[in-house]
Amino acid sequence: MPAIISKAPGKIILFGEHAVVYGYPAIAVPIDAIQVSVSILPVIKENQSTIKIRNIGWQEDIPFAELDEHDPIRTSIENVYAHINQNPPHFEMTISSSIPIAAGLGSSAALAVAITKCMSQFLGIYLSNDEINALAYKSEEIQHGSPSGIDNSVITFDQPILFRRSKPISQIKIKSSIHVILADTGKRTFTKEVVASVKQNLEKEPDFINPILAEIGGIVEEAAKALFNGEVKKIGGLMVRNHIALRKLGVSSIELDRLVESARINGALGAKLCGGGKGGYMVAICEPTSCERVSLGLESDGATHIISTTIKGSKQGN
Ligand code: MEV
Repeated sequence: MPAIISKAPGKIILFGEHAVVYGYPAIAVPIDAIQVSVSILPVIKENQSTIKIRNIGWQEDIPFAELDEHDPIRTSIENVYAHINQNPPHFEMTISSSIPIAAGLGSSAALAVAITKCMSQFLGIYLSNDEINALAYKSEEIQHGSPSGIDNSVITFDQPILFRRSKPISQIKIKSSIHVILADTGKRTFTKEVVASVKQNLEKEPDFINPILAEIGGIVEEAAKALFNGEVKKIGGLMVRNHIALRKLGVSSIELDRLVESARINGALGAKLCGGGKGGYMVAICEPTSCERVSLGLESDGATHIISTTIKGSKQGN
């Protein structure tokens, strides 16, 4: 039997992280340049399942039974068993990922989505995208507490989305392709902790934090229109406003601010932190002619890794 393979992309939150946790809209896009790949082979003679991890700089083979109770791989697999009420035959699962971990690019959600898809195919069970999304959200809850669900949604549906907590997901139209540069601060943070710090600040200083969240919500509404109309300069300006609001919220860092500033000085149309913040990656958008200058500037201003890619415009008629 050939291996069953499923892939899931990374993601960027273009607008609206953190405010989305409190019911405001946010815009996210899948990023195919980075992805998780999961393959499964049945093992007839072995008496246990094994997980083989093949990440860059990290290779490990772990018997399934030895995975921690809250391990994201284990919870994603067990969520599928529970959903279908069945224990599968033993298998060998190989996971390889090019999505940096704890960097704001959706590594945990992509892992959950790819495992869920692969397990369901291995078991011959059809799961709709809504079911895959709901199962991936369950795994995300174990990792992140009370996530908004934007990460698993954009990765499951693999399309740009306008997301609002507890509302139907709507696909967002992007008129023209946008060149994107992602730059790594080299610092790793846990979204759960940054989200918890915003919650604490909101409880302590609601009169200061609430208007910032509302401001971000307003930026997202404007950004959805600008993306629809292909107004890249406006999109860039809104990204900068979004970054400033996130900084006021306390989720930026010296490194993120330095990289955002560097991108702007070197000709980017806009730049902001992306995801949980306090570290991880930032995102800049630029005209094709200035991408190289922006990348070189980011490198010389401390970026430890650069990913250069494109957000594709929506197909006509979509
Ligand atoms: C994390 O990618 C985005 C946050 O808004 C958290 C969430 O939406 O659950 C920071």
